[in-house]
This record gives sequence, C-alpha cells and structure tokens, in this order.
Amino acid sequence: MSVALVVLAAGQGTRMNSDLPKVLHGLAGAPLVAHALRAGASLSPERVIVVTGHGADAVEAAVAALDPDAVCVRQTEQLGTGHAVLQARSALDGFAGDVVVLYGDTPFVRPETLERMAQTRAAADLVVLGFEAVDPGRYGRLVTDGADLLRIVEAKDASPDELNIRLCNSGLMMADAATLMDLLAGLSPDNAAGEYYLTDAPHAAREAGRTARVVICDEAETLGINTRAELAAAEAAFQARARAEALETGVTLQDPATTYFAYDTVIGRDAVIGPQVVFGPGVTVESDAEIRAFCHLEGAHVSRGAKVGPYARLRPGAELSEFTHVGNFVEIKNATLAEGAKVNHLSYIGDALVGAATNIGAGTITCNYDGVFKHRTEIGARVFVGSNTMLVAPVNIGDEAMTASGSVITENVPEGALAVARARQSNKPGLARRFMDKLRTLKAARKGTS
Ligand code: UD1
Ligand code: CA
Repeated sequence: MSVALVVLAAGQGTRMNSDLPKVLHGLAGAPLVAHALRAGASLSPERVIVVTGHGADAVEAAVAALDPDAVCVRQTEQLGTGHAVLQARSALDGFAGDVVVLYGDTPFVRPETLERMAQTRAAADLVVLGFEAVDPGRYGRLVTDGADLLRIVEAKDASPDELNIRLCNSGLMMADAATLMDLLAGLSPDNAAGEYYLTDAPHAAREAGRTARVVICDEAETLGINTRAELAAAEAAFQARARAEALETGVTLQDPATTYFAYDTVIGRDAVIGPQVVFGPGVTVESDAEIRAFCHLEGAHVSRGAKVGPYARLRPGAELSEFTHVGNFVEIKNATLAEGAKVNHLSYIGDALVGAATNIGAGTITCNYDGVFKHRTEIGARVFVGSNTMLVAPVNIGDEAMTASGSVITENVPEGALAVARARQSNKPGLARRFMDKLRTLKAARKGTS
C-alpha cells in the first residue's frame, strides 16, 4: 500500500504569541514539524506534502532542509482543516494509495500507532486516530456505534450530551487519497466556526456508503502544542521519557533530571553521563565513554573509553576516537582527535586533525578563520603542542614534533622538529625593583600636592 503524508502546518498558532510560525518552535532539538515528518517517515511515504500558510517562507525553508523531497503547498487563507487537506490535491496528481493526515504541531505520534491505523484500513475506508481525554475540553468528539465511527462533532457544535463523550479526535486521519479528496471537495462551512472541517469527512464517508473506524492511542501521543506552556510541558514529557529510556538501556545518568537529550541522541551501554549535560541534535556517545558535568554536545561522535569534560563543548563535526580526553573549557568543532589524543585545558580546536597520542597544551588555539575563509590545521601523531600555541591555519605539524609554549606557528613544522616562534627572553638585573621604587615615589609626591 502506497502512502502519501499530508502535514498541516498553515495555522498561525496565535496562542504561541510569537513571530515565529508555531511549527518552527523547537522541541528536543528540532522544530515541531520535524517530529511530525519523522513519525510519518516510518510509513515510508511515497510523497510528503506539507500545507503551509502563516510564515510559509520560513516553514518551507525548514521543510526543504529536513526533507528535500517534500513538496509544500500553500493555503493562502486558513479556511479550516478540511480546506487545508484539499490544498494537497494537485500535489497528489497521479498518486494512487492512502493519504495520512498529520498535524505539524502534534509531535509525539508513535510509528506503532500509524502502523495500527494502516492495519485498520483493511477493515474500513476511513480511519481516525482517537484517544480518551482526561479533559475533553475543545477537542472534537467521536460519535461511535460499536466499532463504527458515525461522525465527529466539534466542541463548538456539540450538544450537551455529545460534550460528555470522552473519546476525542486527535486530528490524524487515513483514507484512500482520491476518496478523501472527493469527500473534502463536497464539504460546506455551515458550522459554528464557519470553517471547512476535516472532521466532517467521516460522516460524509458514511453518507456515501463507506465505513469509518477509530484507532485509539494514549493521550500523551496526540498532545498538540498551542501555547508556550504546552511546549514546555511537551519538552518535559520528552525529557522524562528519554531519561527513563537511557537508564533502562544501561546508561548511567548521575543526576537524570539534569541530563537533556535531543530527539536523536544515541548513548551506548555503560556510558556515564555526569550532571548538567546537554545533548543537542546529532550526538552519538559509545559504550564506556564518560561525559562529565556541565558539557554541551551537538553533532558529535564520542567513541568508547573517551573522557569529556567537565565543562567541555563539542560542536558539529567533533569526532573523538577511542580513549581521547577533552577537558575543561575546551571547544572542538569539525575536528577529529585520533586515538588517545588529549586536549585537556582551555583550548579551541576547529577544522583540524589531531593525530594519535598527541598532546595539545593548555590554551592552544587553531586560528582557523581569517575573517573570510576557514583553513585546516593538521597535526601528526605523538606531537607535543606547547601551552598557549597559536596554530595559524592552514598549517601542518609533522609526527613527533613539538612547539615551544607561547609560539605563534605560521609555517609547517617538519616531523620530529621543535618549533620556537616567540621573542627570546632577556633579563635586566634589578630593573623591576628600581622601576617600582620610581612609581611609588611618584605616587607619594602626588599625594603631597593634592
Ligand atoms: C482540530 C480538530 C479537532 C481535534 C483537534 C486535535 C477540526 C475541525 N478539528 O481542532 O476535532 O480534536 O484538532 O488537536 O479539524 N490548520 C491549517 N489550515 C487551516 C486550519 C488548521 O493548516 O485552515 C492546521 C493548524 O496549523 C494545525 C492543525 O491544522 O496544525 C489543526 O488546526 P487547529 O485550528 O489547531 O484545530 P483545532 O481547533 O485544534
Ligand atoms: Ca489545535
């Protein structure tokens, strides 16, 4: 069965009180819309269509970055969820199969749940994802008869009896593409909101002699984000789940409540994570690695047995091989540390290769940026870089070379060589004492005259 995703992301999100379109607000290190796309990706969709409207330029740019194959269609006026799905019609030209409607602001739908919807489609023409709401509030209510879904009534249009129904509409729907488009084309906006309701589709389907059913999931999965408070609550829910999962899979979190994960963080068994560690997107930490307190990592790979921190920052492209050490106040960006390399104190290593068992002294900086271009620094194996060395890239340092501390290295250093690139020291006997005496005398004289 071919599947096309239609992700609704045109709404303003008024209650976010934000200039940023709602679906671009971040959750677990990715915009909300990325979570919807990821959930849908589990169905291996043939087409991905995102309906944009408010902040369309920004949303479309974000979608293009997340999934270059996704097609965005614009809904210039937000006339309702049914109208929004109908905008996908031309993008569905030539597609035969099922449409799965997802909301860009509903990030927690699990692949297993989508799979259950797909299975239920074998028994019904249209499938709606529902949940038992603790507080049904503004949700659409599912009016059922046994296994059959008769219709969905929006809270605004519901009778007091219908408002007592706790089985609610998540918004997710699955049906044959052509059938759904035909049903939606026949909708009218004569309801309390004056909108074209996607939720009118089940009733319309039954009128046309088709069947509709409900798949029920946990309320937590259908959580939609409408306010900043809900976004914060969703983040907390995500983190709580990610921490529990990490502990269960054999990761030590020394203070779980202060470990922050991204949606794609991967941590191996027996890794140890200290307090106050933040994982941005794209991090893998292998087994037996240790990330000490107060580290920030994103786009980084930390191999087995490596030790990072406390207070280290690994930025995108940081590749730490086995048994490397990265210590306090060290930043690594787009750089590989080969096995056993050490950068223990106060350094910046960017656009660089650091060879095996090389030691980078405190305060070393790869000067990788000339204001316009970035340049590489390549350091061989078993090199000793003296403290406070400035490596002005592009520059290479051969195996087993050394740099004298305080050097500004602008030329390549051959293997085995010691490079000294700083002024020679000269001592002036007694000058310090004479100089201080002079200053003190001057100060006393000024006091006398004021
Ligand atoms: C909708 C459902 C309701 C369900 C609830 C679940 C309808 C009529 N109601 O209500 O039954 O319980 O979701 O959260 O479908 N959107 C567009 N274009 C539009 C209107 C909406 O793209 O013209 C998008 C929004 O950006 C949002 C989603 O569709 O991502 C849902 O719209 P929203 O206005 O939040 O619907 P609800 O009133 O919450
Ligand atoms: Ca909503």
